[in-house]
Amino acid sequence: MDQDQQRQAAAEAAASLVENGMVVGLGTGSTAAHFIAALIRRVRDEGLDITAIPTSVRSEQQARAGGIRLVTFATVKQVDLTVDGADQIQPGTLDLVKGLGGALLREKIVAATSRRLVIIADASKLVERLGGKVPVPVEVIPFGWETTATRIAALGGVPVLRWGKDSDQPVRTDGGNLILDCAFPPLDDPAGLEKALSQTVGVVENGLFIGLADTALVADAKGVMTLTRT
Ligand code: A5P
Repeated sequence: MDQDQQRQAAAEAAASLVENGMVVGLGTGSTAAHFIAALIRRVRDEGLDITAIPTSVRSEQQARAGGIRLVTFATVKQVDLTVDGADQIQPGTLDLVKGLGGALLREKIVAATSRRLVIIADASKLVERLGGKVPVPVEVIPFGWETTATRIAALGGVPVLRWGKDSDQPVRTDGGNLILDCAFPPLDDPAGLEKALSQTVGVVENGLFIGLADTALVADAKGVMTLTRT
């Protein structure tokens, strides 16, 4: 299995966890897109009866086009199961870095409102310590973002404003905010950094997901393994 097939295998394993009547959180990214595609097939072919809350405009469009019934938090108090990708996964804690796809704010709101968060990924996402090569994305209010960047630098990060591909404009999130990709050395205390970032003026949300994931379905060339939070 190549990397994309591994992502697809993890996504299909997650799709088999979905049951009739569930409210399902739909993640964002290439692996989550495989999950949404598998869910669309189950709705179409098996008549699986679910409603869903997407974590981005992209995932919303894919789900809507495929005939998945969408709901919002105006009518739903809790999500039964959310399935999402990740940029880094620490085995054991199942703490995560998320947001390279830019959807971290809605992803965290949906994850925090879910009874169960299942992460799907290929094995390249497993790391001993979060941070290092992969930056921690931080969503910030556009006003005074330079001052927010200075505060994040004081926490030991190197923040870089994310720019659009082939564009002379910075990336805007679905919420209209900016993203600072913040390089940190491999993290000894991701929970402490998460707290410090959350308390930083100008920060809307950060891509450290601590204690939120229950299970990770991680695929390598041999198949899909199930990791649980210990
Ligand atoms: C989206 O904002 C991210 O949190 C994604 O879940 C993450 O980037 C994983 O994406 P891939 O599945 O494309 O690697």
